[in-house]
Amino acid sequence: MTVDVVAPLAADALAGLWLDPPVLPTKWLYDERGSRLFDEITRVPEYYPTRRETAILRAHADDIVATSNATTMVELGSGTSTKTRLLLDALAARAAAGVDVTYVPVDVSAEMLAESSTILARDYPGIAIEPTEADFTESELLLPGSPGNRLVVFLGGTIGNFDDDARRAFFDGLAASLAVGDHFLLGADLIKDTGRLVAAYNDKAGVTADFNRNMIEVLRTGLAATGLYADDFDHIARWNPARHRIEMWLRARRDVRAYFAVLQREWVLPAGAEILTEISTKFDPATLDAELADAGLAHVTSWTDPHGDFLLTLSRR
Ligand code: SAH
Ligand code: AVI
Repeated sequence: MTVDVVAPLAADALAGLWLDPPVLPTKWLYDERGSRLFDEITRVPEYYPTRRETAILRAHADDIVATSNATTMVELGSGTSTKTRLLLDALAARAAAGVDVTYVPVDVSAEMLAESSTILARDYPGIAIEPTEADFTESELLLPGSPGNRLVVFLGGTIGNFDDDARRAFFDGLAASLAVGDHFLLGADLIKDTGRLVAAYNDKAGVTADFNRNMIEVLRTGLAATGLYADDFDHIARWNPARHRIEMWLRARRDVRAYFAVLQREWVLPAGAEILTEISTKFDPATLDAELADAGLAHVTSWTDPHGDFLLTLSRR
């Protein structure tokens, strides 16, 4: 963990760990190990979203890039940018036709961002790759300028990791920073059978459990904690029907009494108490498009995969 994450982690820990129930922002799941574990999750059999979204992109990436007429593609929460390659292939074809094109992957996970950008620069020599380490929830997030139209993409269903207020603020902020004619491509997971949803967040191999418990490691190393061990927590994935979202919690297996040297504070969690580490909201397409329209992002086209599991929606400022 680099020095510059210590202060923000300390601030988020102070703001969230002493609440009832305790909560930490989801971004703290994505240190270097967490990012690799997420990548592994995308390949476990129960976790369908990545495969479904890839199928949609495979069928429609050319159309999306052509409709957007973009010279700059910005991706929020780019991770490994694996699926994005389908869009980059279409952008590379524009570059080959003589258009100057730029891809700006934005992520908080510094190591993953650097590694994937190096590989992309090698594989897409015609596209300028400009990685940006930034938190996309920050209200002052500035989109890069562009000589032509921009296409902002937000894939994976990561919009589901925002609560309702944060999602509204995000759409409003994004719309305000887009110019008329820019496009926004959003991937969202859809409401479906509860059994499949819960299984997707509690895979048999235990990769999601390790991903969730890694948040304890991030706290331990980032805040120099003693008495805090990932093995003292159970991974819980629970469907919240009222808010149509999966919630990931960490439940203490025993009384936890930890000391954070960075905060100079003790943290006590009784056995059975839970920390909320992630929400993953599932959507109804019409409601999501109405939210986008309310923010000034007009619906252009949407696609689902043949199973009707996942949605890609393209809107225009
Ligand atoms: N887009 C990829 C990765 C999704 S995982 C896909 O569809 O598979 C979520 C990604 O968002 C991770 O790479 C994580 O590091 C990043 N992320 C999470 N919170 C973030 C934040 N607040 N700001 C920027 N990136 C964030
Ligand atoms: C990145 N995000 C959309 C994933 C999700 O499905 O909410 C993170 C994840 N958490 C557990 N599994 C995957």
